[in-house]
Amino acid sequence: MDGTFNENDISHVVEADRAHIWHHLTQHKPYETSDPRIIVEGKGMKVWDQKGKEHLDAVSGAVWTVNVGYGRESIADAIRDQLVKLNYFAGAAGSVPGAIFAQKLIARMPGMSRVYYCNSGSEANEKAFKMVRQIAHAKYGGKKHKILYRDRDYHGTTIGALSAGGQDERNAQYGPFAPGFVRVPHCLEYRKHEQDGAPEANYGEWAADQIEKVILAEGPDTIGALCLEPVTAGGGVITPPEGYWPRVQEICRKYDILLHIDEVVCGIGRTGTWFGYQHYGIEPDMVTMAKGVASGYAAIACLVTTEAVFEKFKDQPDDHLNYFRDISTFGGCTAGPAAAIENMRIIEDEGLLQNTLTMGERMMGNLHALMDKHAVIGDVRGKGLFCGAELVSDRASRDPVPEKMAQAVVADCMAQGVIIGVTNRSVPGRNNTLCFSPALIATPDDIDRITDAVDGALGRVFG
Ligand SMILES: Cc1ncc(COP(=O)(O)O)c(C=O)c1O
Repeated sequence: MDGTFNENDISHVVEADRAHIWHHLTQHKPYETSDPRIIVEGKGMKVWDQKGKEHLDAVSGAVWTVNVGYGRESIADAIRDQLVKLNYFAGAAGSVPGAIFAQKLIARMPGMSRVYYCNSGSEANEKAFKMVRQIAHAKYGGKKHKILYRDRDYHGTTIGALSAGGQDERNAQYGPFAPGFVRVPHCLEYRKHEQDGAPEANYGEWAADQIEKVILAEGPDTIGALCLEPVTAGGGVITPPEGYWPRVQEICRKYDILLHIDEVVCGIGRTGTWFGYQHYGIEPDMVTMAKGVASGYAAIACLVTTEAVFEKFKDQPDDHLNYFRDISTFGGCTAGPAAAIENMRIIEDEGLLQNTLTMGERMMGNLHALMDKHAVIGDVRGKGLFCGAELVSDRASRDPVPEKMAQAVVADCMAQGVIIGVTNRSVPGRNNTLCFSPALIATPDDIDRITDAVDGALGRVFG
């Protein structure tokens, strides 16, 4: 598409959408007087809407997903070839692309061993929670069943995943939640002044120690797992403070607690390594991933475990309950792994991990330059092509800007033809962080265009 799109051809689609589609995370009242946006086509970093307007997508499909960019014919071909050969068979049997992708994935995850397929990030996390519960029953008389999760982290939309949800605005009105999920404090150094007792120095170790305090208060023999995002995404693009992860790992080992890393956003290249946890020397027991695994060309999610975790589900073959008694119907779709194999090849052959590191540095440099110019930027954070800028009304107090103003920055960029994001219905009063996660193919010009748009928008919105 090149801007010559005929708007009239699609007016019936807009009306069908307005009449029948229930969009995700959207208040629909405005659509009574304005048109919903329909994205019609994509190529590389760009998408076109129903009016033929071109947008540079700085958020990879709005939710950090299209890592290799739009319009990849080789992925479409791989999916097509696989579908005509075999589209589906339930996961009790294997499939050719399923086995091959698992082997390639494990080769990039030293220490990990087994892949369980399903089809969304929420579902992958639910599987991990179920494994923790089953291990507790099989090995610890049901006692070691609690799952720790962190303030500001998100693990999905189902009631089980929301039970591990650290974003109170996401959770509001959806309770009651499942029992046995316990919250630990966040590790956002920029907001440590809001945390009782947080020190000036060694904040990372202190933040990890707060997890240990919760473990001791609950009783270590009741805690089965700790579930964390390597870099918190929708809760404000929170990169871990220095010293945090080594201490977290030590605490998990000390109390025999499984470490479950939620790589749904960071997984498959977003931060410039295959997985976010690989920046920090972490040795997880379970890793979940979804969005970037096939860059949105097919629905696929994986729960990956160590052999030691897997072993617990086959060490008593005479016990009729001694295996993971879980089903994922669409975990047997072969389009997912077929797309994931080609997605991984593209990342490798095009050197996209290195590009992510290089372009991520450029984006962070540009954002820091904007911070020098606009006092409303209180903090910038990021890892690879996963960056955020927190907007504050006053740098001394760090009070967040009203969220309508942060949304106005997003709307101004949209009017300029650049799609950026902002934390959305996540932490009450803290929906003030602009989010940037362009595809891993971004060029220096793309990065500069994104930050130029933000520069103009901040000038207009905050004058
Ligand atoms: C860190 C994290 N985990 C899990 C999920 C849930 O994934 P899905 O929407 O595929 O269920 C998300 C979605 O944004 C996420 O950001």
